[in-house]
Amino acid sequence: MSSQTASEPWRLRQKPGREVEVVVFDAYGTLLDVHSAVARHAARLGEAAEAVSREWRQKQLEYAWVRSLTGPSRHRDFWTCTADALRFVCARHGIADEGLFADLLDAYRLLSPYPEVPAMLRAVRARGVQTAVLSNGSPMMLADAFGNAGLSTQIDALLSVEAVGVFKPDARVYALAERRLGLPARRMMFVSANPWDSQAAHAAGFRCVRVNRMAAPDEYGLADLGVPSLPDLTSLPELLN
Ligand code: LAC
Repeated sequence: MSSQTASEPWRLRQKPGREVEVVVFDAYGTLLDVHSAVARHAARLGEAAEAVSREWRQKQLEYAWVRSLTGPSRHRDFWTCTADALRFVCARHGIADEGLFADLLDAYRLLSPYPEVPAMLRAVRARGVQTAVLSNGSPMMLADAFGNAGLSTQIDALLSVEAVGVFKPDARVYALAERRLGLPARRMMFVSANPWDSQAAHAAGFRCVRVNRMAAPDEYGLADLGVPSLPDLTSLPELLN
């Protein structure tokens, strides 16, 4: 696995004639379980644990979107958005334990992958298709999480929005993947559990697959657009035939 650098674009090996050359995954909520940080400290949070985890994710995304919409001078990386969101949610729930705050934030750097992810990544690569991550996460967050999960050798490219300084679903993020991976969007499959992310990737021309772990209703007309929906990632490699 390699992380991008500003000066050295990622160029994946291209295989003429292949339909899908690379599967591009969203990270948080798709490969990494965003609720695994709170789960590790659930006993210390008691009854508030489930709400803290859900609200932390909502605020993290809200802060990222608002920073993108208010312009480059307001941009802060996803780690800052994540810490700011946890700070707000702890205050809302009257959690004043600084040790718990620090432990929760630390745990977010080392989120667990969903159980099927390691075998799924191996199966995708066994088909000669490469794997990439395109995420709001900062380079540090992505390197730590995938390194800690032992997935470094199964992911060919880690792409962070920090290269363009704006968050998903801004179109510049999806264009970054085309530029860094050296492929047109139509030769890449974009896989996300975040429907707003799938909608933007579809608009950018990617073939999209939605992961819908909670059997949530369709959004953004993704079903009508023909975007397949999977209950988890187990059968994803079969879509590459
Ligand atoms: C990501 C968030 C949006 O990984 O899930 O980009």
